[in-house]
Amino acid sequence: MGNLKIPGDIVFGKDSFSHLSTLEGKKALIVTGGSSMQRFGFLDLAKKYLEDGGFEVEIFDGVEENPSVDTVLKGKDAMLKFEPDWIVAIGGGSPMDAAKVMWVMYEYPEVTFDELLNNGIPKLRNKAKLACIPSTSGTASEITAFSVITDTKNHIKYPLASPEMVADVAIIDPILPEKMPKHITANTGMDVLAHATEAIVSTAANDYTDALAIQAIKLVFEYLPLAYNEPDNLGVREKMHNASAMAGMAFTSASLGIIHSLAHKIGGMFGVTHGLANAILLPYVVQFNSKATNKVNWIEEELGILDFPSAIKALNEELNIPLSFKETKGFGLEDDKKFNEVLDEMSKNAQEDPCTLTNPRQTTPEILKMIYQHAYKGQDIVD
Ligand SMILES: NC(=O)c1ccc[n+]([C@@H]2O[C@H](COP(=O)([O-])OP(=O)(O)OC[C@H]3O[C@@H](n4cnc5c(N)ncnc54)[C@H](O)[C@@H]3O)[C@@H](O)[C@H]2O)c1
Ligand SMILES: [Zn+2]
Repeated sequence: MGNLKIPGDIVFGKDSFSHLSTLEGKKALIVTGGSSMQRFGFLDLAKKYLEDGGFEVEIFDGVEENPSVDTVLKGKDAMLKFEPDWIVAIGGGSPMDAAKVMWVMYEYPEVTFDELLNNGIPKLRNKAKLACIPSTSGTASEITAFSVITDTKNHIKYPLASPEMVADVAIIDPILPEKMPKHITANTGMDVLAHATEAIVSTAANDYTDALAIQAIKLVFEYLPLAYNEPDNLGVREKMHNASAMAGMAFTSASLGIIHSLAHKIGGMFGVTHGLANAILLPYVVQFNSKATNKVNWIEEELGILDFPSAIKALNEELNIPLSFKETKGFGLEDDKKFNEVLDEMSKNAQEDPCTLTNPRQTTPEILKMIYQHAYKGQDIVD
């Protein structure tokens, strides 16, 4: 039996942000990231809409990129103190993901993070509901049943999944991503392509997810270069914001594959930004997977192109994204030695990532090591 669990209320397009004023409740806690939402006035606007709707509002800010268990625990404490009946996450995947697990721990204060990993997510909505407002067109956490939290001690990113964590309301307004700097537009946009591609080739793909994912891929190829080159074009931003949510609807049901398994582990180890890691891995993993699925041919037919991996590389180049990990700057990956030291460990952990389960081609830690090595050097995988 398939399942496509998405938020019951998805509002989208310009001015959908104002939908916040229609929520019903008494206390709303806004969960957000660093400073961008504050800087661009979106926090004040959210507060105003909620107060117009009769809410008392508090803000929990400072959720970092690749949110940690510690941050989740701090958010839980803030929630226990304020006792909100709505949690409103505003920002990229990081604050939305963190808000989801803070919410779980607010509802079950005794439960530890390890217990959630091992036993799954208990029934929610005894104390609060969740609204998500994405500011990047990337992760689609506003749609999905997933949350990715980093254990900073072991440098491992853990994806948690449960239909319980699907938001009650998703507000997909293009004014938020309009403010994204170019490199974030590029990286998060390539995350959308990774989601849609992995959903299509997934062993759990179905008619519903194929339809959503193929349209998301078409939108990315048409609109991501435009969003990168014309950041203030709201119409283009809206297309990418919708593409992100549609890819999210696809992968929340079809799940993902080894692009994400590999990205989670190199992200946890070196801090490589999620979308950037996916963008680099995408062409090499597609080359590897194409031997085990005819869905890559289907994507090529639908796009009217001859070679999907080459098209992805061309898109990366257009967005100034490097074609190998070795060429990235600022993560300590320029040096082969550091990479080789942790390669076995990352490969083993990637094999155990839940996203590996639905990859169309079987892997082993040795195979994943081979893929990491090709993506590190930017070498094509031929068989
Ligand atoms: N829940 C899911 O289904 C899912 C799926 C894929 C990835 N993830 C996780 O999501 C996280 C990545 O999220 P992300 O890619 O959205 O980035 P992010 O939330 O980590 O944000 C990246 C940076 O962009 C800034 N930013 C965000 N929106 C902005 C805006 N509109 N204008 C200016 N700056 C802005 C942030 O302040 C931050 O510095 C990772 O931890 C990843 O593992 C979750
Ligand atoms: Zn992703």
